[in-house]
Amino acid sequence: MLRLVLLTSLAALVLGTDKFSRDDFPPDFVFGAAASAYQVEGAANLDGRTPSIWDTFAHAGIRNDTSIFEYPIAPWGLQGILEYIKQFYGNPPVYIHENGQRTRRNSTLEDWPRVKYLHGYIGSLLDALRNGSNTRGYFTWSFLDLFEMLDGYESSYGLYFVDLDDPDLKRQPKLSAHWYSNFLKGKNISSDGYIELQKNISAVSPYFLE
Ligand SMILES: *[C@@H]1O[C@H](CO)[C@@H](O)[C@H](O)[C@H]1NC(C)=O
Ligand SMILES: *[C@@H]1O[C@H](CO)[C@@H](O)[C@H](O)[C@H]1NC(C)=O
Ligand SMILES: *[C@@H]1O[C@H](CO)[C@@H](O)[C@H](O)[C@H]1NC(C)=O
Ligand SMILES: *[C@@H]1O[C@H](CO)[C@@H](O)[C@H](O)[C@H]1NC(C)=O
Ligand SMILES: *[C@@H]1O[C@H](CO)[C@@H](O)[C@H](O)[C@H]1NC(C)=O
Repeated sequence: MLRLVLLTSLAALVLGTDKFSRDDFPPDFVFGAAASAYQVEGAANLDGRTPSIWDTFAHAGIRNDTSIFEYPIAPWGLQGILEYIKQFYGNPPVYIHENGQRTRRNSTLEDWPRVKYLHGYIGSLLDALRNGSNTRGYFTWSFLDLFEMLDGYESSYGLYFVDLDDPDLKRQPKLSAHWYSNFLKGKNISSDGYIELQKNISAVSPYFLE
C-alpha cells in the first residue's frame, strides 16, 4: 500500500498531465501502433528471396545479461521538442511514429515500465497540445515484439509478446496492451487507474514468462 502511495506521488512529480482520457484529445487526433510484418515473421524466403545478412544477423545468438536496460522516463523531453518545433519551425503538423519503452523480451507480461512510459509521454503530449502544438497523431512502437535494429530479438518494445518458439508465433497481450486499449476506449487514465488496472490484470493473468 505504501509503495502504491509513493508511486502515485512520484508520478505527480515526474510525469506530464497525470489524469486524462482519449476525450481530452481532438476527435481527429490519430492514435495507433506501428510494426513491420517483415520484422516479426522473418519472411526470408518470401517471393523467392533467400536469407540475407539481415536475416542471419536477426537469428544470431541472444545475449543473456540481466542488467536493466529500460529507457529513463523523461516525458518533458517530448514536450520540449514539440514546443521547439512549434516555436522555431512554424508549428507544422507532426505525427509521432515511434515512441515506446524497451524491456527484455524474456521478462514478465506485466510490463510496468512500458505502462508508466506511455502514461508519461501521452500525458506530456497532451500538455504540448494544450499549449498550441500542431501534433496530429501518435503511434507507439510497437504493436508486437519484433526484430529490433540494434538488439535483434533480445529486447522488446511490443504491446504484445510473440512466442518465437511456437511455430504459430502465438501472441499474448501485455499489461501495456490492456492499458492502451483502455485509454483508446475513452477510460480515464490516472495513477489510480494504474492501480485498478494492476489489480485487474493480476486477478485475470498472473502470467510470468520466467
Ligand atoms: C549466457 O551466460 C552464461 C553465463 O555467464 C555464459 O556462459 C553464456 O555464454 C551466455 N550465453 C550467451 C548466448 O551469451
Ligand atoms: C526465451 O526463453 C525461452 C525459455 O527459456 C527460450 O527457449 C527462448 O529461446 C528465449 N528467447 C529469447 C528471445 O531470448
Ligand atoms: C507555451 O507556449 C508559449 C507560447 O509559444 C511559450 O512561451 C511557453 O514557453 C510554452 N510553455 C511551455 C510549458 O512550453
Ligand atoms: C473522466 O473524468 C472526467 C472528469 O473527472 C469525468 O467527467 C468523466 O465522466 C470521466 N470519464 C469516464 C469514462 O470515466
Ligand atoms: C477492473 O475490473 C472491474 C470489474 O470487472 C471493472 O469494473 C473496471 O472497469 C476494471 N478497471 C480497469 C481499469 O480495467
